[in-house]
Amino acid sequence: MDIKSTTDLSWDEFDELRDPRPAENDFDRVVEAALSRRGFLGGAVAFGSGAMVFGSGVLGSATSAQAQSAGFAFEPIGTATDFDIHVPEGYQWKPMVRWGDALFSEAEGAYSPETGVPVEMSDKVFGENTDGMELFDVDGKEIITINSEYVNPKINLPADSEGMPKNADEVTLLKNMQGVTVMEIADNGNGYEVVKDSPYNRRITHETQMTMDGPAAGSDLMKTNADPEGVSPKGTMNNCGSGRTLWGTYLTCEENFNGYFGATGEYGETDGFVRYGIGAEGRYAYEKFDERYDLSKEPNEPNRHGWVTEIDPSDPESTPVKHTALGRFKHENAAMTQAADGRIVVYMGDDERGEFMYKYVSNGTWAEGQPTDGLLSDGTLYVAKFNEDQTGEWLALTPESTGMELADLLVHARIAGSKVGATTMDRPEWIAVNPLKAEAYCALTNNKNRGVAPNAGGDETPVGGPNPRETNNFGQIVRWRPENDDHGTVDFTWDLYVMAGNPEVYDNAYAGSDNVTPGNMFNSPDGMIFDTRGTLWIQTDGDYSNEGEFAGQGNNQMLAGNTETGEIARFLTAPYGAEVTGLCWSLDKKVAFVGIQHPGGSWPDGEGKPRSSVIAVWREDGEAVG
Ligand code: FEO
Ligand code: CA
Ligand code: CA
Ligand code: CA
Repeated sequence: MDIKSTTDLSWDEFDELRDPRPAENDFDRVVEAALSRRGFLGGAVAFGSGAMVFGSGVLGSATSAQAQSAGFAFEPIGTATDFDIHVPEGYQWKPMVRWGDALFSEAEGAYSPETGVPVEMSDKVFGENTDGMELFDVDGKEIITINSEYVNPKINLPADSEGMPKNADEVTLLKNMQGVTVMEIADNGNGYEVVKDSPYNRRITHETQMTMDGPAAGSDLMKTNADPEGVSPKGTMNNCGSGRTLWGTYLTCEENFNGYFGATGEYGETDGFVRYGIGAEGRYAYEKFDERYDLSKEPNEPNRHGWVTEIDPSDPESTPVKHTALGRFKHENAAMTQAADGRIVVYMGDDERGEFMYKYVSNGTWAEGQPTDGLLSDGTLYVAKFNEDQTGEWLALTPESTGMELADLLVHARIAGSKVGATTMDRPEWIAVNPLKAEAYCALTNNKNRGVAPNAGGDETPVGGPNPRETNNFGQIVRWRPENDDHGTVDFTWDLYVMAGNPEVYDNAYAGSDNVTPGNMFNSPDGMIFDTRGTLWIQTDGDYSNEGEFAGQGNNQMLAGNTETGEIARFLTAPYGAEVTGLCWSLDKKVAFVGIQHPGGSWPDGEGKPRSSVIAVWREDGEAVG
């Protein structure tokens, strides 16, 4: 790890710098032995106190996947290890927008394959490292909103900077490559492309003026020198997964915000800083050139990030709103649905080893055409507790249940969750709500610390329940069904939809669940989105070495899941190095937009720098794809 600079690390590796695990443990040695002689593990490792649960009937559906490709409109594809995209027979793809592509005429030609984007044009082009996205019908126009999660400084900065900004301009360049792009797209007869200079086109970055609402807005924890009232934060950062409100606005989710802060002098370390991984050494040296990121100057600035932020794609003049009622943590995405009585429900995951799953429920109710005031600022935040018997409960985070002031418990939702005994999870990534049935799914991407080390707050991470494997490098998808088929209730039942694994390397729990086969295997489920037909699309962000326990899994991929039969089929493979993340559809559902983040080589141009891109995928026969 010491040969890498902090900007080369994955966020999971960065977490580990702040919160190291034991160098090696018994389990690592057992796995190593197992890899050299398949089946060695036998009964040597305990996988948890209860039997593992895969669609065991609690949720009323089998997950055994004997059927080959029944139920899918495509023939599944094999794995790939090359620098290209692969889709099934009868499908086509092409890039729709790449990092550095112009949103406005003045930025035309700004991108250079040798040097990337100059700072003057950096907020007039599509950002880097595409992630969650949604598409909206605004008066018949197709407006797409796309997160740019983080930056790769080595790709954006001049070579002599060696991946760390040397001056304020270079910090500005990096900041502008993150955030959100709002833009109009249209099918010009030759596939979708950006409508340059559309009045809807907009970049939202670290510098965009925001506002905030909910109980923590205006609290002492939010006050800074630039904003003594604590209600006018600037910027959104590390925008990971997405969500959409029922009333047609975009939700961008601030994930690994902690890494942008550092200290140039003395600052007071707090339990909150420790729990959220905020420390003296920033990942990108922003604090050296901008006081806002310097804990010794602005100790409350990190409290203003790590929220779900709402953006109105129909109004380019609108001010984005950070919703403190939904809690502050490393937000993956935000999956909105409705309780039976019309209250708004938002499911959310906190992506870090051993952190929690959350649910927000509004106090007010909503129906089409009614006002939306207060729906995301006045409600209750809950955290999930899973029991071994496949039941579970949403525990309310309130001053009474936590002994914390309301503003404090929202800013430090993790600490509040620990106080009520929430279940530590294997890195909750995207949550998806089934549009056809009262159930929801969360991708638990992986957790090498399961059963090995506590979370950053010291909570134990016992093996069991929906996190059934020690040193879990493959991940699983948990699903739950709320009591009375009502997302507003607090009790639920759960099972595992799939446990990823490698049946060619293991013949124990690490082989995965029955619906994982040598033909569809994968690791590290992350992005997860239902289409309107009820197909669950699963995108991976995992180990693409194709070696060791990942042998035969190839590059990251996108798979389709049938939630009734458990069947899973591979639809797309990413270029080497990339993860697949973000998925939405054209209004007529004939084109799927798929995000390809941090590709390797010179994808997709074939020369110059690799460019994170959103691709369009469609059927040759013109039929719908979602
Ligand atoms: Fe940004 Fe947890 O993925
Ligand atoms: Ca993700
Ligand atoms: Ca991930
Ligand atoms: Ca990632």
